[in-house]
Parts: sequence; C-alpha cells; structure tokens
Amino acid sequence: MIDLYPVAGPLLRALDPERAHDVTIRLLRSGLAPADRSADEPMLAQRLWGLDFPNPVGLAAGFDKNAVVPDAMLRLGFGFVEVGSVTPRPQPGNPRPRVFRLPEQRALINRYGFNNDGLDAVEARLRARARRGIVGANIGKNKDTADAADDYAAGIARLAPLVDYLVVNVSSPNTPGLRALQGRAPLAALLGRAMEARARAGSDRPPPLLLKIAPDLTPEDEADVAEVALASGIDGLVVSNTTVARPAGLPPGIAREAGGLSGAPLMEASTGLLARMYRLTGGRMPLVGVGGISSAEDAYAKLRAGASLLQLYTALVYRGPALVAELKRGLVRLLRADGFARLADAVGADHVRIADPVGADHRS
Ligand code: FNR
Repeated sequence: MIDLYPVAGPLLRALDPERAHDVTIRLLRSGLAPADRSADEPMLAQRLWGLDFPNPVGLAAGFDKNAVVPDAMLRLGFGFVEVGSVTPRPQPGNPRPRVFRLPEQRALINRYGFNNDGLDAVEARLRARARRGIVGANIGKNKDTADAADDYAAGIARLAPLVDYLVVNVSSPNTPGLRALQGRAPLAALLGRAMEARARAGSDRPPPLLLKIAPDLTPEDEADVAEVALASGIDGLVVSNTTVARPAGLPPGIAREAGGLSGAPLMEASTGLLARMYRLTGGRMPLVGVGGISSAEDAYAKLRAGASLLQLYTALVYRGPALVAELKRGLVRLLRADGFARLADAVGADHVRIADPVGADHRS
C-alpha cells in the first residue's frame, strides 16, 4: 500500500477536526481510499466466539458511527470493524465545536454526544452489505430516553441478525447519566434485558454480546462490573472508552474542554484497567483492549495484559492507515521475539498462570 498520509494527513489536520472526519468518511466512501491486499500472517489469527479474526487489530467505535464505510475500513487491513454508537432514533449530538485535537500529546478530546443517523439508517446500510469480514455494532441510548434498557433492547433486536457481535456501551462520558449504568444493580438489570433481547432476536447463532466500560471506575465498581459481567452470561468486555480524567502535561486551555480524552495519554490507565479486569474475571472472559494504542509495543502490552483482541481510533488520525500494517508487522516481530507461536499464547502472559485461561474458542 502506498502511504499518502504524509501528504493527506497535514491537509486534513489543517481542517477543523469534525470537518476533517467528514471529508475522510467521504473519501473512504468514494472508493478512493487505499487498500492493503497483503494477506495477514497466520500467527496473528484469533478464533473467538466461533468467529475467525484474520488479525487482532480492530477499528474502535465512533469512527464509523453510521455504518457508512465498514468495508472500506476492512480493506485497509483491520481484522474487524465496530460501527456505532447508534441510538434508536437519530439525534444531533452536542453543539459544535465538540472535538478538539491535542497534537503534541497525540490525543483528542470529544464530546460528540452520540450524534448519529439512528437505527433505521444503520440497519439499512448493514443489510445492504455483502457481509464479508467481521463487523460489530456498538449500541447506545438516546439522550431523552428515560428507561435506558428499552433503547439497548431495541438496538440489539434490530442489529443482532446483521452483525457478528454487539457491544452495549454504558461508558461514553457525553450522555448524561449513562455511566451510572455501570453500577452493580443497574448493570445487572440492564445486562439481563440485553441478554433477553438477544435471545428473542431469534437467530440460531446469536452474536456475542460485549459490554464496553469506562476507565474512570472506582475499585469497587471494577469488582462489581467483573462479577455482574460473569454472572450475566455476556461474552466479553471492551476495555476501555475515553476518560474524563486529565493526566498532567496536557495544554491547560484544551484540557479544560468537557468530554472524553483518547489517544496516547489514555494508554496507561486503560491498560491498567484491562489487566485488573483480566484478573477480576479470572481470564474466563475475552477482553478487547482499546485506549491509546499507537505502536506495536502498545498493542503487544495490551495482549500481554489480557486482551484477546485490540481496537484503536485516535492514533489513526495522527498516523493514517499505514499504522494498521505497521502494528501487524510489529506484533509478529514481538511475538516471535518472546517465543510465542501464535497470538493467543501471549494473551494474559503478564499474569501468573491462572486456571482456565482464555482459550482458543469461547463459544462452546
Ligand atoms: C470515540 N469513542 C466512542 N466509543 C463508543 O463506544 N461509542 C462512540 O460513539 C464513540 N465515539 C468516539 C468518537 C471519537 C471522536 C473518539 C476519539 C472516540 C471511543 C473509542 O471507541 C475508544 O474507546 C477510545 O477513543 C480509546 O481508543 P483510542 O482512540 O485511544 O485508540
């Protein structure tokens, strides 16, 4: 793949960040986007929930909220793509400006607030796909819905037949009250409703259902989330969403903007949470590691901390699509250097051996 991003990146970054994103989506949709046709190294393959991931590097939610370009993103070399967050009804999100670049830190702050086209439009686009490559859907709630579970149940019911996995997102900092759904009792109730909705969606092979959590939980919340997640029968966790914390060293003006921080400054906190969730769940539940990945070393650290799969978004803004191939090449090198024959062997390697670690296939 010829890397045009050294030219295209600065042009895009000269635009307001939201406008740059719209232009990027339009380019991707037009078919002018690059494609990486090289085959993935077999050692990077990962089998989970009966799905064969050609490589573990996924596109995180929020890039393609409206399922406009999942196949173009798969063609860039991602092993899987998560569309959304989608809410039942279309909604405009927060007033602009609502996304801010921190180029020195390779970070973003966003407070989009689930701007999206709604389930009708997203469902139609997913239905029109040829369904090659792994695509998941991230489900959110409308800002003005009182009973959150109704919205999640609606999203699951509509999209379960059309995607390879589902994510219940209760961790965006930009929808008032959303993160309170991570508390023990509300979470148990919500996941109960979500699992019911999936069962009723009526396919003979229902897609795995995952929960996406925030990096700003208290230790007590973390233990509760692990326990409730295991008890509810969900299939995995996505760790993590953006943070409301503001680590030292951010430019004070932009750091004061409300919203979720993503990119390099999130790496340490999200990987720490990932390691704790691996321990708290005893390695019995596959984890998707996301937050601050911008190098193969970052990606590898998340695997060793307990991630079975990876996702990224912010580094793509600063590095462009060539980053995907670079991460895959680097992972092969790092796995080999540590003597791992395949990716699954490195999952959780930083932890002392625990009984029944995440194995090859979790859908028994
Ligand atoms: C996001 N993210 C996000 N997550 C989610 O579950 N639903 C969403 O709609 C969005 N929207 C969104 C918009 C923007 C502009 C950004 C930067 C991020 C969070 C994203 O999926 C991921 O969890 C974090 O960004 C951390 O990963 P990176 O960006 O540090 O690789």
